[in-house]
Amino acid sequence: MSDMSQNISQLKTELTSLIEAANDLQSLEQAKVTALGKKGRITDLMKNLGKMDPEERKTTGQALNVLKDEIADLINKQEAALKRQALDLRLATETIDITQSPRPERKGHIHPISQTIDELVTIFADMGFTVAEGPEIEDDWHNFTALNFPPGHPAREMQDTFFLPDDPTEDEEKQKKVLRTHTSPVQIRHMLNTKPPFKIICFGRTYRSDYDMTHTPMFHQMECLYVDKKVNMGHLKGCLMDFVRTYFEVDDMPVRFRPSFFPFTEPSAEVDIGCSREDGGLKLGKASKPENQQWMEILGSGMVHPNVLRNCGIDPDEYQGFAFGCGIERITMLKYGIPDLRTFFDSDVRWLEHYGFDPLDRPNRATGK
Ligand code: DAH
Repeated sequence: MSDMSQNISQLKTELTSLIEAANDLQSLEQAKVTALGKKGRITDLMKNLGKMDPEERKTTGQALNVLKDEIADLINKQEAALKRQALDLRLATETIDITQSPRPERKGHIHPISQTIDELVTIFADMGFTVAEGPEIEDDWHNFTALNFPPGHPAREMQDTFFLPDDPTEDEEKQKKVLRTHTSPVQIRHMLNTKPPFKIICFGRTYRSDYDMTHTPMFHQMECLYVDKKVNMGHLKGCLMDFVRTYFEVDDMPVRFRPSFFPFTEPSAEVDIGCSREDGGLKLGKASKPENQQWMEILGSGMVHPNVLRNCGIDPDEYQGFAFGCGIERITMLKYGIPDLRTFFDSDVRWLEHYGFDPLDRPNRATGK
């Protein structure tokens, strides 16, 4: 073996052990500079090539290039091994403390209207009702005529309707468009589109041209409809009492039915819940003395008028049912002590922080909330 090839193999042994001894990335980098750097050992030997005769230069040059590749390869492998080691070490030693409580971050709030709707869905789903929907732009036929408001009937005027331009592409009786004044037309749509029995609730925006402490042009209603072969007023009373007592979380809430009139029910009743002002403020429930008992109207109800059933192709001699409708803001204000209806729609974040609900605390039947 020539001196040169002996030098090369000696250098290889030396550099190999230097690289293998590097136990962190920093010393590996050092070894790399020593081996391959501009002033490194291999470069040093390469500088001698110029002084060699052509034959020797060729073999030595080749041998040095091979060495260079081998050493570069070895450095890469060592680097990969060191990185893997470092990662293994991190994985073994780094932990996340999942028991730590979350930082107090700003949290959004559920609007009281959404909260009440969620509570009502929970209560009525438990009684076997499903949720139905209908459009907010209604036609006069669904909003009034099918609900047994005869054309020109004064009850039509009572609802302060927002009228929209006629839609001439529709059949004559559906041309007149309105913003629905109540959710009752959803009863009609549901009865026309499905087969009895019907057992639905519906929530949504309704519109009337009115504005003061207790009226806004847009507000929300809930509608309930139960039609089957043997539904009677007892069912209506039972359902309403269960609903009212669960929703307001007052087990012995007094409930009163007062005769009333709606074109789409017969008989019709307005429903009041008991309250008192014995300690100054309003308290829902039974007064401690009968003479202090006061009443608060919360909804309208009744047995579905036979004409309404007929308008939906249902034989009133075979099917009967009850319906009721209720203002969502009203029962929300009563339950949570919110004094002014208009504040619901002011979009004031401070109001929402005060009256809103925790998004993670979903309503359930057990708590009523
Ligand atoms: N739609 C009525 C209103 O807006 C409320 C109502 C009363 C709905 C009696 C009903 C009902 O379903 O049976 O004033």
